[in-house]
Amino acid sequence: MAALTPTAPGFVEKLVLYTDPSTCPTDALIPVPLADEPAFVSWQQDIPREYLNMSPEELDRRIAFARRQLGTRLAILGHHYQREEVIKYADFVGDSFKLAREAQQQKDLEFILFCGVHFMAESADVLTNEGVHVILPNMAAGCSMADMADPDDVYQAWDEIHEMLGEGASVVPVTYMNSAANLKAFVGERGGLVCTSSNAPRALAYAFEQAEKVLFFPDQHLGRNTGFGMGIPLDEMVLWNFRMPHGGTTPEALKKARVILWQGHCSTHQRFSVEQIEKARREYPDVKVIVHPECRWEVVQAADMNGSTEKISNAIHESPAGSVWAVGTEINLVNRLQVQNPDKKVFCLDPVICPCSTMYRIHPAYLAWVLEALLQGVVVNEVKVDAETRKWSLVALERMLALP
Ligand code: 13P
Repeated sequence: MAALTPTAPGFVEKLVLYTDPSTCPTDALIPVPLADEPAFVSWQQDIPREYLNMSPEELDRRIAFARRQLGTRLAILGHHYQREEVIKYADFVGDSFKLAREAQQQKDLEFILFCGVHFMAESADVLTNEGVHVILPNMAAGCSMADMADPDDVYQAWDEIHEMLGEGASVVPVTYMNSAANLKAFVGERGGLVCTSSNAPRALAYAFEQAEKVLFFPDQHLGRNTGFGMGIPLDEMVLWNFRMPHGGTTPEALKKARVILWQGHCSTHQRFSVEQIEKARREYPDVKVIVHPECRWEVVQAADMNGSTEKISNAIHESPAGSVWAVGTEINLVNRLQVQNPDKKVFCLDPVICPCSTMYRIHPAYLAWVLEALLQGVVVNEVKVDAETRKWSLVALERMLALP
């Protein structure tokens, strides 16, 4: 319990380690009781206290028991970035697109337990029948990139962009899956759609059939990498800095632009650099470098391949024995790929072991809590999107799901 209190020895140092993106504790992937997680102070606090000091073994036993009892009433969806102690319980594992599809296809069950982050659980709620309860084990599992697109900032930007472009402005909004449901609704209502890293080029192609320009948010890197891959030069993509008046840009730059990129990013993927790729190539001349398209443009250019977590996973699984892979994505997935492919070498480009800090918030204690509550007939941590938001965000999601 000492680790919970801000006065406990070492508390501040540990918290800084976990919250400063330039540092990361290398023991972060070893299972520990919830109370011993230094970052727990900023996670959901109303979990019953009996779960705080349960050992990893006890939690595992209790999760397994509750999961068995719930049987086909429940499906557990797990994103690739989840920890081992959690992903082992997932009935479906995938990238954001695959999990959205799985959610849509779940019909005769009562509960979906989403081991991922809040925007994924919201999308699952929108895509499932009204009667399905979608549960996020830890409600503090958000996404810092999604938070960079505050709805009020987006609404204001939309108005300013139209004012700056003047009469005849032809812009369609496209939102990355990593955004709140109300922004998906905003996009759906204005003829746009959602995209994920596995379908962004097709989503942009659809958007350009609707309008001359695209406002892409929140991830500037996915937008830039996708636009560039489609042949749009960098100087026809303008950055919209939502912290500055008029996005920190000019009407001339906006008029020239085909893509307006929201100035958001993923803190985990921003860590990858061209220097890391050069080092990997020096050490392993035959290495294949594969990165997520949330990495910076120059990193994607220096890599051999880029793609969603599912694409990264498939590329490594399908490669011949003896292959060497340097991977630019979250560490839980990279480590898992090495374990699943013992005849290959798979390593993370970033030498500092740093999990996605919000995916990491799905600690097994939360999983045990919500499952045992369900056994008692109590639904905790349900994610429910209101009817109006649901209507338009469903339109934006369905446009994505219908892409050829
Ligand atoms: P994927 O859709 O590739 O799984 O990416 C989700 C994500 O949030 C990556 O940071």
